Amino acid sequence: MSNLVWQKQGVRTDERIMRFLAGSDVLLDREFFLCDIEASMAHVQGLAHIGVVDADEAAALQSELEVLADAFRAGRFVLDERYEDGHSAIEAHLTERLGDAGRKVHTGRSRNDQVLVASRLWIKQRLTELGRYCMDTASVCLRRAHEQALPLPGYTHLQRAVVSSTSMWFSGFAEGFIDNAWRARQAYDWLDANPLGTAAGYGVNLPLDRAYCTAALGFARMQVSPVYAQLSRGKFELAALEALATALLDVRRLAWDLSLFTTAEFDFVALPDEYTTGSSIMPNKRNPDVIELLRASYAPVAAARVGIEQLLSLPSGYQRDLQFSKGPLIHGFGHGLGALQLLPDLLTRMRWKPERMRAAIEASMYATDAAIEQAVAGVPFREAYQQAAQATAESGQGRTPEASLAERLSPGSSGQPMLETLASRLHEVESIWQAASGGKS
Ligand code: ARG
Repeated sequence: MSNLVWQKQGVRTDERIMRFLAGSDVLLDREFFLCDIEASMAHVQGLAHIGVVDADEAAALQSELEVLADAFRAGRFVLDERYEDGHSAIEAHLTERLGDAGRKVHTGRSRNDQVLVASRLWIKQRLTELGRYCMDTASVCLRRAHEQALPLPGYTHLQRAVVSSTSMWFSGFAEGFIDNAWRARQAYDWLDANPLGTAAGYGVNLPLDRAYCTAALGFARMQVSPVYAQLSRGKFELAALEALATALLDVRRLAWDLSLFTTAEFDFVALPDEYTTGSSIMPNKRNPDVIELLRASYAPVAAARVGIEQLLSLPSGYQRDLQFSKGPLIHGFGHGLGALQLLPDLLTRMRWKPERMRAAIEASMYATDAAIEQAVAGVPFREAYQQAAQATAESGQGRTPEASLAERLSPGSSGQPMLETLASRLHEVESIWQAASGGKS
């Protein structure tokens, strides 16, 4: 490892200790590298505003940062163990290309606020993706809820309970993912604060143009206190992972349904071929591995939260422990978003098997309808319940799933699904995301 920005003369470094200190940090920094470069550009402009670098130096630094970003994107620059971390790599590149101008770039900043700002920009991008996938999923669910209301058994305790429908199943997940998109937005707004310019955690003796950097990097506000900037590391990561976990909870239950519904025992759903795999030994098998991994994706997200939470038993101020928050954050979002991005396509193309679903609706599933009809006719509900309980097998006489669904008039249910209300809520959250991105997405 070369280019130790903090190296002092006469102090030897020990390779094993250096490896321990760095761990896989520099490799994880690949994720944040473009954000780190973006923040470095704002920092350079900010330094120019207060005369720490002159206009020519600022222009040269800016264009070298662009060169580095392009080279990184194209794979011509590889961030690896030659560097201690991404921050040192940026400074090394600028110094190598520009000499003294490069050596000025770190004026008034610390790797402590540098890592904070880079990871925060990255988190904002990931939350934007989270919001997008949740809205896309909700939109597919709403569309399918509109299209078809095929009778489907409704279960409680995994026992046949009442007649439900594919429309009710889809509208349930539509509302869930609209809420998940809101949750992602709330987390985004909550952590949309710029830590750059807080340096090591105590400010610097320079009138840094923090307002400029805040606006240039697209933050809604400045994180004012340098001490709080450091306190927020890990805390904000946790908030982002919590928003992700909320969505993944719904993914897990949805995947559980599909996992059951694709068994020969239920056989309510056919998956697109690409979502199933074969067995290495059993020629007869098509396995819903993708669905199982969707279900499992909650686990790494939950693990990431625990991993970060465990680190946060710390005094105020920067502590190197916090470096370990990067791995769980990246890993958690990688798994979580990887799962979520498949949902819109999967839900668009999965196919219901109406005959099988209808065959699983048995007479006893009308018992609640029968009891309530009696109650409406004036029989006290508890008595009507007892009568229906004694005659569950006859409850189905003269009834059809379609009629039961049409008569379910409680708002939100099959007779009055209120899909327009859900559509307008989806529209509302979409416009908020849209407005925040300046109409870009
Ligand atoms: N890799 C470090 C981290 O993630 C960067 C900050 C290093 N700061 C320091 N004072 N050693 O926390």
